[in-house]
Amino acid sequence: MRWPRGLDGLCYGGDYNPEQWPEHVWAEDVALMRRARVNLVTVGVFAWSRLQPAPDRYDFGWLDRVLDLLHAGGVRVALATPTASPPPWFSAAHPDALPVTADGVRLTHGSRDTYCASAPAYRAAARDIAGRLAGRYRDHPALALWHVHNEYGTACHCDHAARAFRRWLRGRHGDLDRLNEAWCTSFWSQRYGDWAEIGPPRATRYLPNPGHALDWRRFCSEELLAAYVEQRDLLRTATPGVPVTTNYVLGGWVPVDHARWAAEVDLVAIDHYPSDAGAGAEEQTAFAADLARSWARRAARPADRDPGAELDSDPGVDSEPGADLESDSEPGAGAGRAGGGEGDGAAVADGPGGPAWLLMESAPNLIYAPGRMHTKEPGRMARHSLAHVARGSRGAMFFQWRAPRGGAEVFHSALVPHAGPDSRVFREAVELGAALDRLAEVDAGAVQASVAIGWDAACWWALQSPGLPSGRLDYLDEVSAAHRVLRRAGFGCDFVAPDDPLEAYPLVVLPALYLVADETAERVRRYVAAGGHLVATYLSGVADEYARVRLGGYPGALRDVLGVRVEEFHPLASGERRRLSTGDEGRHWSETVRLAGAEAVARYAGGVLDGEPALTRHRYGAGTAWYVSTRLPDEAYGRLLAGAARAAGIAPTCPGAPPGVEAVRRRSGAASWLFLFNHDTEPRRVPAVAGEDLLTGVRAEGAVTVPAGGVVVLREG
Ligand code: GLA
Repeated sequence: MRWPRGLDGLCYGGDYNPEQWPEHVWAEDVALMRRARVNLVTVGVFAWSRLQPAPDRYDFGWLDRVLDLLHAGGVRVALATPTASPPPWFSAAHPDALPVTADGVRLTHGSRDTYCASAPAYRAAARDIAGRLAGRYRDHPALALWHVHNEYGTACHCDHAARAFRRWLRGRHGDLDRLNEAWCTSFWSQRYGDWAEIGPPRATRYLPNPGHALDWRRFCSEELLAAYVEQRDLLRTATPGVPVTTNYVLGGWVPVDHARWAAEVDLVAIDHYPSDAGAGAEEQTAFAADLARSWARRAARPADRDPGAELDSDPGVDSEPGADLESDSEPGAGAGRAGGGEGDGAAVADGPGGPAWLLMESAPNLIYAPGRMHTKEPGRMARHSLAHVARGSRGAMFFQWRAPRGGAEVFHSALVPHAGPDSRVFREAVELGAALDRLAEVDAGAVQASVAIGWDAACWWALQSPGLPSGRLDYLDEVSAAHRVLRRAGFGCDFVAPDDPLEAYPLVVLPALYLVADETAERVRRYVAAGGHLVATYLSGVADEYARVRLGGYPGALRDVLGVRVEEFHPLASGERRRLSTGDEGRHWSETVRLAGAEAVARYAGGVLDGEPALTRHRYGAGTAWYVSTRLPDEAYGRLLAGAARAAGIAPTCPGAPPGVEAVRRRSGAASWLFLFNHDTEPRRVPAVAGEDLLTGVRAEGAVTVPAGGVVVLREG
């Protein structure tokens, strides 16, 4: 992980689209940025048609002037490659590069992301424009960071993609016998005799093959990663001192395996738009930030990167020469290109503050949501931004700087709204800039987490299969429930991928970890045997990495460590409940659990499962493993996980914090910073804390009162 060149302290700013405005607005933009203490803006994300108005015509003059202006104003630049939105001329010239849906519909130009990442023409054009940007701005003193593309995630089912998929499958399975075996193709006469018979999982008559669908999702992630890597390598060659990143899209849509991508970016950067305006927004914020930090931690461990993963950087155009790094645009442009400027080559490795990651986009106010837009009430923008900083983000960036006059996202909020700078939102933006300045020192502190929650994008994909026993299985919901109840109980959480080491965590929670490879099962066994504490929930361990069910009883790969054998599933109808001996009621799911070494800590009470174990505990070696066979309500789930945390010797971050107050600590040696967020509408007193509030300069001795909807950041001691 590396840090934007020439930037000290926390980043503040957002997407800046000067190409949407006449030049006289640019000067006002920079003046307002200075007022708000903005120090980093992302420029050019969707500017391809302005940078290359025709196949053989380039126009960098305006961008030269923008970068010079920003540099003169002390604002650094995350320079984007514009490849997420090919210009109209490109789609007209290369209709084969327009994306095709699973139903076989070729989409038209007119929105964004209208490309196929496997189309040779698209990849060549993307390399060309990225290479020209690199060549032109490699020495520009404002350049702090490369921002490749935007939110990679577009899948295409065209023939280019089919060819690339087959190449990838050959690399993964080696021969057709192994592929047939992995996909269980003897079911429904799907056995393949020739690679050419395999295509993307396009629309079909009835249920698709789950192994095929899962490998397709993996392929899409790898294919997009290859497209990213191709641009990254061009940029790295031109500017070895400037880190390269791309912004991850989060939410209910999971197009790529971000944990895997972390190994290929210099800085993990996420976009985060909670889908809920209420308490759910705070939960989603914490969840996203903990995920981002965990991905950054993976990226900081190059030795642990997945050695088997292969990148297909060949979209079928290997004879094509690489993009020219020299600019050939109009002469005389680019006054700012002379000299390296300050901070040259100053990209830094991770400091004591832990692996670097950055909140690259968030909404200052209104955000799109199904049905209507949500308005953030006063104070929430700062609270969400600082909640990301508390969890390790090296700043807070927004989409976007200035609200557009038109275009598809005309009502998306901005730091400078349609109302202009004389507005609540801009005033809050100015306050946030000042707050981030005052918090610069927290960057030295690393976030502490003692609980690890399993996270695997492939499990999410596999659990989206239509042939599962319940339509109510939602991996994101399962994982976020574990995170939510632990957060409410005051425990800090990291996320771990299946190949991450577990030893650093006294407690590991695996919600619905459906796909478990032999190596992962072995890692979990060793962890518990050595004294670790494990909680696994239903559906964990059921299938192998190809989504083939492990025979002999669920939870397959984890039967021995959990000491149970599940004979049957009993999925529950909507609204149906299974009463437990504890008085709690399970929902969504239940099972016939047989004890095989474990003891029952709660049983089903009544109904067909009356008296059968529902929650179990198993001593395994020096450790303990709990199994949860139904979806507990939050309160009961929280009790269970808090109990497991206590058994593992973990204390909450701030034991005295009242409900509604969230506490996160960052630490560096003897120094520590305690963030206290009051999500409530009344002021809340937090006892047994001491230190100076960096936001107000006021000292707290023995207790502090956090204003309603407010934040306190104590330098403890
Ligand atoms: C994403 C994109 C932005 C913008 C916002 C709107 O994060 O990267 O370009 O579309 O969503 O929510």
